[in-house]
Amino acid sequence: MKMQSKYVSKKPDHNGFVCYDEVENNTWHALIERQFKIVASRACEEYLQGLEILSFSRDRIPQIPDLNLRLKKETGWQVEPVPALIGFDRFFKLLSERKFPCATFIRIPEELTYIQEPDIFHELFGHCPMLTHPVYAEFMQRYGQLGIGQPHDIQRLLARFYWFTIEFGLINTKKGLRCYGGGILSSIGETVYALEDPMVRYEKFDALNILRTPYRIDIYQPLYYVINSYESIYNVLKGDFIKLIVKSQSLPEFEPLYK
Ligand SMILES: [Fe+2]
Repeated sequence: MKMQSKYVSKKPDHNGFVCYDEVENNTWHALIERQFKIVASRACEEYLQGLEILSFSRDRIPQIPDLNLRLKKETGWQVEPVPALIGFDRFFKLLSERKFPCATFIRIPEELTYIQEPDIFHELFGHCPMLTHPVYAEFMQRYGQLGIGQPHDIQRLLARFYWFTIEFGLINTKKGLRCYGGGILSSIGETVYALEDPMVRYEKFDALNILRTPYRIDIYQPLYYVINSYESIYNVLKGDFIKLIVKSQSLPEFEPLYK
């Protein structure tokens, strides 16, 4: 959903398969091996179950058609290969059809630990496990439906909601605070930081407050919104969420917690 990228997606063949070279597969291997260890005690149960269901290859970048067989069986979701960048309209349309857009490139080894744009490791490892969860699956589709045909200023605030939930959401569980956001769970540094850094601020999930909270995409988040259940984020979208967005536009934004 961003405007510029130095990466180019790899074009799948007529069966939907992409040819990755050894460097690219080694990058996947390095990322997934270290991230598995980190998420085991920090991701929510639903995500970990999703990881098990999807059983990603550790040695090579998964092929989307293979992954889609498992995803479709669980919740009807599919991963849709797209160019590195797509516009808001296509993004919302795809989600409304239970298609999760995924650029097929993987980061270069020099950007192993931090990449600003979403690559295939972020999309598959970060987001797809949660798409196996029935309530979350409904929630994501509803989110897509809401954005279709909306003016840019509404879509921009929908993107803000996405940021603080789907990308950087935390959930209260019986075992304590856990991560469900794909932006956190695909980042080795932020998975630990989000739960363990004493400077982090946690706020109870509140959709109107989220819509008033500015954010930066290139830093660890200073603030995370914490949900108690996936029903809570789904229910807020099932209501008149666009009306809530319009209400948020009449209120001042919160002071940023970053410089
Ligand atoms: Fe993402």
